[in-house]
Amino acid sequence: MNNEDAQKLAIMEQDVRISRAMSTIKHKIVVMSGKGGVGKSTVTVKLAEEFTRNGYRVCVLDADVHGPDIPKMMRVREPEITLTGNLINPIPTPVGATVMSIEFFLPSEDTPVIWRGPKKTGAIRQLLSDVNWEGIDVLIVDNPPGTGDEPLTVLQSIPAIDGVIIVTTAQEVSVHDVEKCINMVNQLKIPIMGIIENMSYLQCPECGKRIFLFGKDGGKYLANKFDLQFLGGIPFEKGISGDKSSASSYINTGMVKIFNKVEKYLKDGGVN
Ligand SMILES: Nc1ncnc2c1ncn2[C@@H]1O[C@H](COP(=O)(O)OP(=O)(O)O)[C@@H](O)[C@H]1O
Ligand SMILES: [Mg+2]
Repeated sequence: MNNEDAQKLAIMEQDVRISRAMSTIKHKIVVMSGKGGVGKSTVTVKLAEEFTRNGYRVCVLDADVHGPDIPKMMRVREPEITLTGNLINPIPTPVGATVMSIEFFLPSEDTPVIWRGPKKTGAIRQLLSDVNWEGIDVLIVDNPPGTGDEPLTVLQSIPAIDGVIIVTTAQEVSVHDVEKCINMVNQLKIPIMGIIENMSYLQCPECGKRIFLFGKDGGKYLANKFDLQFLGGIPFEKGISGDKSSASSYINTGMVKIFNKVEKYLKDGGVN
């Protein structure tokens, strides 16, 4: 066997391990965005909290190798890595859901990931194959932004994804980048559950008027253009910060409506 064949075989064997490891998860959702900073991780964590509140056993997989923010957002302080056999157990969090992140395997919290492409995609695939995914109703993956190798690896490696949730702001640049993202997911023939517009508006605390800082209806425009479900908008929330997760009322109100649509989508077996 030459080197190339050996590499192909190793990838196939890992695919089998991933399929086996993930086969017990009831539902798999991937959260994506065209660019960073639009609130992909915030939406992922809020959705996980909502699923947990409704009695689901949830795990969040933080696949964003360059911005593994999820453990902090889920208030994990000092993760203790435990094993079941030779599989790594997801880490429990104070918000109920469990979490698995590339961050747990970096030498220190402040270490930047400066790996080259293959090492990054390899790390993502290893997280998928070497984690104990038993006993999870819903896996929510925070995918790296954009349409590069890493988000592609997540989409191609996870078998039977129920649906992708696209997060955008109403800003033209975000909408434009998201179009590429939608095209990539469509090309892979993975279903898209719908679109969330984050930071939709700011509500004036004095007069209650809504100020559309990033323009209006970017999410709805995308939903119409690609014939997708608009899952809902989430307004700006004053003072939201990564680790003060639960008190944010505007975001939670928006998330409850979005959760209901996502849950219905899963119950209906992936039909919008
Ligand atoms: N609806 C919102 N209102 C106010 N701040 C928000 C909102 N959504 C996200 N943020 C903030 O914007 C920043 C980027 O959000 P994050 O979820 O980390 O984005 P991404 O994962 O897409 O890079 C964070 O500081 C987050 O707290
Ligand atoms: Mg993020």
